[in-house]
Amino acid sequence: MKLNRVEKALMNNPVRGLVQRTYEARLLLRLGGRVDAGQVLDVGCGRGVGTRLIVEHFGAAHVTAIDLDEDMVARARERLHGLEQRVRVSVGDVTAIDAPDAEFDAVFEFGTIHHVHDWRLALAEVHRVLRPGGRFYFEEVTSHALRRWPSRTFLQHPELDRFTTEDFIAEVEARGITVGQNYLTRFFGDFLVGVGHKRAG
Ligand SMILES: C[S@@+](CC[C@H](N)C(=O)[O-])C[C@H]1O[C@@H](n2cnc3c(N)ncnc32)[C@H](O)[C@@H]1O
Repeated sequence: MKLNRVEKALMNNPVRGLVQRTYEARLLLRLGGRVDAGQVLDVGCGRGVGTRLIVEHFGAAHVTAIDLDEDMVARARERLHGLEQRVRVSVGDVTAIDAPDAEFDAVFEFGTIHHVHDWRLALAEVHRVLRPGGRFYFEEVTSHALRRWPSRTFLQHPELDRFTTEDFIAEVEARGITVGQNYLTRFFGDFLVGVGHKRAG
């Protein structure tokens, strides 16, 4: 689902960009390493801060970035102007990714899947488009955080079938992506950051 006005303001501001650059990307790099020369998908790219990081800090050869919200796509295109050889941004839905099976060396998601009603289908799609051995980089917000007063009061998320850290990792593993212990939780279990790899076969 698209973000409400409050969350859009929270996402489209320099503090969010700073957190993504200086904190989340560093953790993901530590857990998953670079994706040098890789073909990468960024699902729920928002205004494209993460997409640029995937090119510049993770070393992707090319990033396909999608977002459900056409306004976010427009913002991302503007932000990524000049990188057109290495980035393609379009409107797209993580539950129906417009790409063949095993197309990508890595899939990134910065805080997207907790906005998806059928988050299990989103993970099935991530698995489908990853090549065997490909890596899934995730940064997520758990049901624990969504229950807190500020989130309940000001933000809007799917009400049903929210996930805890354990639910999310179990579903990723059940889809055929191994995470093991390669994840971290932060802020009393509100946030989850990790990297898994798609099992062969
Ligand atoms: C919390 S924002 C994060 C944006 C960006 N990744 C960031 O970290 O700043 C979640 C994004 O996911 C997008 N989104 C929500 N549901 C989606 C879906 N089903 N498919 C693709 N994008 C989706 C929203 O439009 C929004 O831009």
